[in-house]
Amino acid sequence: MIQVNLKKVVDDTYSIDIGKGNSPKLPSLLKKLVPAFRYIIITDSNVAKLYGKTFLFHFEKEKLNASLVSFRAGEENKTRETKAELENKILQHSAGKDSVIIALGGGVVGDVAGFVASTLFRGIPFVQVPTTLLAQVDSSNGGKTAVDHPLGKNLIGAYHQPKHICIDTDFLKTLSQEEYVNGIAEIIKQALIQDEKFFLFLEKEMEKLVNRDEKILKTTIEWNCKLKASIIEKDEREIGPRKILNFGHTIGHAIETLSQYKLRHGYAVSVGMVAESLIAKELGWLKENDVQRIENILKRVKLPTRLPKSISPITILKKMQLDKKSKEGKIKYSLIDKVGHCEFNVGVENEIALRCMRGIME
Ligand code: GLY
Repeated sequence: MIQVNLKKVVDDTYSIDIGKGNSPKLPSLLKKLVPAFRYIIITDSNVAKLYGKTFLFHFEKEKLNASLVSFRAGEENKTRETKAELENKILQHSAGKDSVIIALGGGVVGDVAGFVASTLFRGIPFVQVPTTLLAQVDSSNGGKTAVDHPLGKNLIGAYHQPKHICIDTDFLKTLSQEEYVNGIAEIIKQALIQDEKFFLFLEKEMEKLVNRDEKILKTTIEWNCKLKASIIEKDEREIGPRKILNFGHTIGHAIETLSQYKLRHGYAVSVGMVAESLIAKELGWLKENDVQRIENILKRVKLPTRLPKSISPITILKKMQLDKKSKEGKIKYSLIDKVGHCEFNVGVENEIALRCMRGIME
């Protein structure tokens, strides 16, 4: 018998730079941090229109080889077909193993571009330049990359960590308030699962955050990214503790899918957090006062706290049973037992979940 000894020590350390006006400075930083013969910028049709030319110009100014390839914007285009199209375009640009991919856009762009980078030439480096608040505080950080399948979201993908994340708050200026608030839902979640002090800060400063106050925004993104990074460092592959990031997502994800993605991710997670907080209260984990605090902060941001009429608790339950995170139809939840702490792999009687969902019907 031949033994192939392949024990690995991997260093996937990456940096996150947060600040106003960071993206024009990125090309000169990349020369040192992630040198490449060619940079392939992947973006979508919306972001290409807004920022494509300017972003490319910063690379040209630094005399770096750079090309931009784009695909049609929207979750419905986060597919294997889009990935193949992008790969064709990239290969036509004579990219090689010495290329680096830059993901310029929101969560869909980051997920697709990261997945392309994970398989092209058996894996090349990539850099995240998230342009939405949701991508800045959540999806760009942690190396999850994927495309969707008609049977579900993110079913085909890989863990591929970025070499660097460039967060430029200037990108947020062109976001609609609805899209901006979409990101705030994940920030509230991050505080609820890990850090009561962060939650108190959000309770105090929420109006300023909603109004995009630069100082509060930077502190919030930084605080959030540090908290999330501390989880990734412990459990990159979501074997255990990373599951706490799914608080509000077991029910929220089902709502998002059943709405056929008409309800934005953060909005669905907002309802999910209320329903799952009520479950935690029924289990005797969470006090009524804490459930109220959670509902109040979501309402202040104008995030929904009630189930849309069109989606019934029983269809949500069935959807959750089919989710890839369920094992043999048994739904596992990540539930907070106080503001700032979360438990994962919690089994809950379906009757309790149904009762809590029925309690928040519109
Ligand atoms: N968005 C959840 C995670 O990164 O695990």
